Amino acid sequence: MEIAQFISEVNDGAVVIVAIANSALVGLVGARVAGDRAWTQLVAIHPDWRNKGIGSALSHGLEKRLLHLGVRKVSALIGRGQVGEQALLNRGFTPVEGLVLYEKLLSIEPGEVRIIDKWGGQVLEADLWDQLSGMKRERDLVNQRIIAPLSDPSLASRIGLRLPSTVLMFGPPGTGKTTFAKALASRLSWPFVELLPSKLASGGGTLANELREALTELGRLEHVVIFIDEFDEIAPARESRPAAAGVVNELLKSIPDLRERAGKLLVCATNFVEAIDPAVLRPGRFDFLIGVGPPDRDGLTALWTHSLSRMNVDEKVSVKELTEKCVGFTPGDVDLAAQRAAARAFARAQSDGKTPLVLNDDLNVAISRTRPSITAEMLNAFNTEVISFERI
Ligand SMILES: Nc1ncnc2c1ncn2[C@@H]1O[C@H](COP(=O)(O)OP(=O)(O)OP(=O)(O)O)[C@@H](O)[C@H]1O
Ligand SMILES: [Mg+2]
Repeated sequence: MEIAQFISEVNDGAVVIVAIANSALVGLVGARVAGDRAWTQLVAIHPDWRNKGIGSALSHGLEKRLLHLGVRKVSALIGRGQVGEQALLNRGFTPVEGLVLYEKLLSIEPGEVRIIDKWGGQVLEADLWDQLSGMKRERDLVNQRIIAPLSDPSLASRIGLRLPSTVLMFGPPGTGKTTFAKALASRLSWPFVELLPSKLASGGGTLANELREALTELGRLEHVVIFIDEFDEIAPARESRPAAAGVVNELLKSIPDLRERAGKLLVCATNFVEAIDPAVLRPGRFDFLIGVGPPDRDGLTALWTHSLSRMNVDEKVSVKELTEKCVGFTPGDVDLAAQRAAARAFARAQSDGKTPLVLNDDLNVAISRTRPSITAEMLNAFNTEVISFERI
């Protein structure tokens, strides 16, 4: 074990000093250099040769080598009474008391990282869920129905509650579906892999084959959130688009396979839920169909509060008034209006040189220039879709 580690240390470019007695290897010490610091990582002495000064000799040899490499400070982290402690004390190392060793096992194995990288996945920051503004209904729903059972699978299994594995979010553009899917992965601390239909098809194989390969490989990960945006492109009704039948049939096979392996979540999003093949959406394939519409007043207030917190805003600005002016805005619209107001304040500050401040007037002008991306007609259609499709 120690020799194997030694060999890999040498291969990795560590500085290693060995002690030979009677033509046999009896001790070794390895250190890694970073700038003017070195960390002793490995001290090993054959049991028959302990307490004979070999450790001190090794340490001495190592120090000489390190000195020539520009090292000024050498540290070694070893336990009380462990091999090498006496040698370090003999060589004048000072024990530093009171240090606490903090350790963390990274949640993803290297083999898994290769699969995640291959499909362009990422491990997201931990706080995206807390950064979501508004979306209270969606957050409560997902907390209770998805995150809670996934976080306590043994209770779920005792009761006979199947763990959720497939979710479709539908709704008009810019309502936060993609943002929400990422926040969900961040909340679970699972890697997030977005499969883009356009990219899958460009891999040389057919879209159906690439999709099968992606879902099979990603299904081998212990945990993953697989996100497919514009799901209507992947799974349109076969009746209306016979050319897509191959992909839809592939999905009908792949989804049950994925559902059998716990710890995976397939999250899909679409602006056109009614265009999706009904066989794909039926219960047993998708656990939840969640409509994500424009934010209500509380949601808008949260969005504005969040946007203004990142801007230098005049204290006369009232979030309540902004909310009333933006009923019907999506999170994307609020963000656009906020940035337009900031741009206006920026242009003024650049020309007059006064304190840069976003004024009420900037916000009002920006809001009046921003057309809600969801029209009354789209909202009506969405409300009807919620009645026909939502399943929670
Ligand atoms: N809950 C939220 N809190 C803060 N910002 C949000 C929230 N939801 C969305 N946004 C912002 O609004 C914009 C649009 O969101 P997103 O891309 O998630 O919408 P979408 O529903 O996926 O749109 P599309 O249907 O067009 O794909 C993004 O800039 C995003 O950062
Ligand atoms: Mg999106």
